[in-house]
Amino acid sequence: MRIFLAVGVCLLLSSAATPQTPETNQIPHQRLNFDAGWKFHPGDDPSASAPAFNDKPWRSLDLPHDWSIEGEFSQNNSTGQQEGGLPAGIGWYRKTFKLPSGITPAVTEGQAGAGMPGMAHRMVDSNNPKSQAKGMRATGPDVPVRPQLSPNVPVRPGISGDKIYISFDGIYRNSEVWINGHLLGKRPNGYISFRYDLTPWLKKDADNVLAVRVDNSAQPNSRWYTGSGIYRHVWLETLPAAPIAIDHWGIQVSTGDITDQQARLRISTTLRSAQTGQSCTLQQVLYDANGNKVTTLTLPYTAKDTLNTVQQDLWFPAAQRWSPEHPYLYTLETSLFIGNRLIDRQMTRTGIRQFQFDFRQGFLVNGHHLKIKGVCLHHDLGALGAAVNTSAMRRQLLILKEMGCNAIRTAHNPPAPEFLDLCDEMGFLVMDEAFDMWQKKKNKYDYSLDFAQWHRRDLEDQVRRDRNHPSIFIWSIGNEIREQFDASGITLTKELTGIVRSIDPTRPITSAMTETDTLENNIYQAGVLDVMGLNYNQQVYDSAQRKYPGQPFLATETTSAEATRGHYDMPSDSIRRWPTSAKVPAVGVNRDYTVSAYDDVSAYWGSTHEETWRIVKRDPFVAGLFVWSGFDYLGEPTPYRWPARSSYFGIVDLAGFPKDSYYMYQSEWSSKPVLHLFPHWNWKPGQLVDVWAYYSQASEIELFLNGVSLGVKRKEGDELHVQWRVPFEPGVLKAVSRLHGKVVLEKEVRTAGAPARVQFMVDRQIIHADGSDLSFIGIRIVDANGNLVPDADTELSVSVTGEGTLAGLDNGYQADGESFRGYRHRAFNGLCLAIIRAKKKAGRITLHVNGAGLTPAILDIDSQ
Ligand code: GAL
Repeated sequence: MRIFLAVGVCLLLSSAATPQTPETNQIPHQRLNFDAGWKFHPGDDPSASAPAFNDKPWRSLDLPHDWSIEGEFSQNNSTGQQEGGLPAGIGWYRKTFKLPSGITPAVTEGQAGAGMPGMAHRMVDSNNPKSQAKGMRATGPDVPVRPQLSPNVPVRPGISGDKIYISFDGIYRNSEVWINGHLLGKRPNGYISFRYDLTPWLKKDADNVLAVRVDNSAQPNSRWYTGSGIYRHVWLETLPAAPIAIDHWGIQVSTGDITDQQARLRISTTLRSAQTGQSCTLQQVLYDANGNKVTTLTLPYTAKDTLNTVQQDLWFPAAQRWSPEHPYLYTLETSLFIGNRLIDRQMTRTGIRQFQFDFRQGFLVNGHHLKIKGVCLHHDLGALGAAVNTSAMRRQLLILKEMGCNAIRTAHNPPAPEFLDLCDEMGFLVMDEAFDMWQKKKNKYDYSLDFAQWHRRDLEDQVRRDRNHPSIFIWSIGNEIREQFDASGITLTKELTGIVRSIDPTRPITSAMTETDTLENNIYQAGVLDVMGLNYNQQVYDSAQRKYPGQPFLATETTSAEATRGHYDMPSDSIRRWPTSAKVPAVGVNRDYTVSAYDDVSAYWGSTHEETWRIVKRDPFVAGLFVWSGFDYLGEPTPYRWPARSSYFGIVDLAGFPKDSYYMYQSEWSSKPVLHLFPHWNWKPGQLVDVWAYYSQASEIELFLNGVSLGVKRKEGDELHVQWRVPFEPGVLKAVSRLHGKVVLEKEVRTAGAPARVQFMVDRQIIHADGSDLSFIGIRIVDANGNLVPDADTELSVSVTGEGTLAGLDNGYQADGESFRGYRHRAFNGLCLAIIRAKKKAGRITLHVNGAGLTPAILDIDSQ
């Protein structure tokens, strides 16, 4: 059995030294959200890097921003159908800002306009809007104050001015950043987080100008929708310039031994020191989930080098363990003092847990077997595009949690930091993936062009940024990497795993591979992966233990079944592969670009949901699976050509409406009783209709049509659903599930009449007035009796009044050509989604929906 625990030199440090406490609650390290008050120009203008450039005519906006999603779908956009057919190109962003009062850039060589060293100063209180400079805001509930750094409270006078950094969580792609006309650098990778030191270039009491050029013009550069722009959050970080400091992402926390009596947290802090001999005190305080102090450890330290790694072990009694069912989080407060002066304080959330892969038993969490029931997710948020939004990500995860899903693979790139925070909090295991390609390209202008120069830096930054998240249980160094087919794969695999292990020796590493023949698979041949990760190829699972001796086995990607929500082709009991083989072009046959939602269609390299789960479920040594994919995403609309523009692979559609297979998973993966009956009940009289039901926690189902029993069915053997073939007659179809003769659940589907009105399905009726929080409102078109009209495609006109705006409209239809940003949208198979965004002012928000033949409807939600 391989146990992945923190390893490395254990230096048990004394906690007997005198604890140092800050004199007040003054905090030196601030992280101010820097999303507000940017200017944007869609197009190129090389002169825009100059501070004096006139950006007045440019559009004003707040980040995160994805300009692609604002565009129109077109076959002529250079991104092409694989990337969703939305525009890309070049864009510029600028932000003019004054430093918050009290912040004085530290004097360094070449510095322009900084204050004098030693000058006393006051830090901004970002909770007090009056003390903030224009364009900076305190974070509201939906723009999470990420816990890595201290909350924003005033600080005592500094030491010799401040260090000031700008941090970007992600820009797609090829960003270049200037401060006051000075080029800070370039980052080609569109999914990586990075920061620049602004200190030497900042002016204290005058305007400063940040300019960012984003170049997503070379196309194609991806196999899926990427979005374009500064699509993740931006932060301004300030801390006192001091002779010794905690390095960027310099804190590493991992679980050491755990027994029933006590747990050991292993903490490694990297300190950057201007000179050897610099003394300081490092203090670690652990808080439980209620904010109670658990234990404190204080260590006086003298720098031995410019970069110093300080190991501390924190023992504490009766730890609560983190697991997907019980995502218990502790918070570690790390403080650095020189003498009595607090130099830096950072908060790191952590979970105490033990993950183990085992060749025979699969996967264990805290010693208990756990099947990884995961899905792959791309980063787009449907109609919102790539622009990061915490409530949209939380909604996706809640939908998946309800299904019983316990793991996410971030396909095929590092995710937004807030996504990992949510997984920590909500209890999802995460496979954090680095690359979709190495040196060998998948598209002409993809990251393969940057790989040689940037892969080390990008991978190091990813692992450093993400390594403290308790949810991450494995790193993936790549997806279906072409180098698995030639010898360069051996060298690169050794190099990449070496990079990951040098920064995080506590977690296993895999790669999502496709070559099953070990002799042909050079990534496998490198002999350095901890876990054999195989995509598809489920015909070899039963021989995996022989083929990959001693290697734990994880189905890193499976399925690629296809479906359109609410669409059903008869009969349902023959499985189709669309496309059928690599030689046959990708074609489905329905003229309306739909795919049947009876789980009976998949790509030839994949399998239906049931075909897949049956096999993964069978073999205990298969640690688990990641279904391709949790949600439909923009781009890759296999099996159709244009105008199809988003994927069919999701268990949930692009708008967030579950397809029927969702309930198969729920019946197998969740602990709640399930009964799901489909399809709808609007057919031609006499037509033979296949009726399916997924169920759990019952032993049989009886089906009734208009009160007449059509018989009892039970899942036999490894069946995952039951089916009847029923000649249609209008009325009521009803299923009853029973256990030992007692009714567990009942479900009805009724023949619907003409569309008459709408019903709303609201995820949150109260949202935060922070300018970014969202309410997702499903609009159901129903008949006069409230039955969903299953083929309603009424054009809806939608408006929002009060303290909110309409952020997008979508219906989940993969070949829908309407922009997500209009005020009119057709429903699809009876449903449409309106996304409402809160303004910054609290108050009532009203959604108005109208459509031909429908009673006008309004819905109020509260923004507080
Ligand atoms: C896989 C690939 C995914 C996606 C999927 C579609 O081979 O890793 O990114 O393209 O196919 O079936």
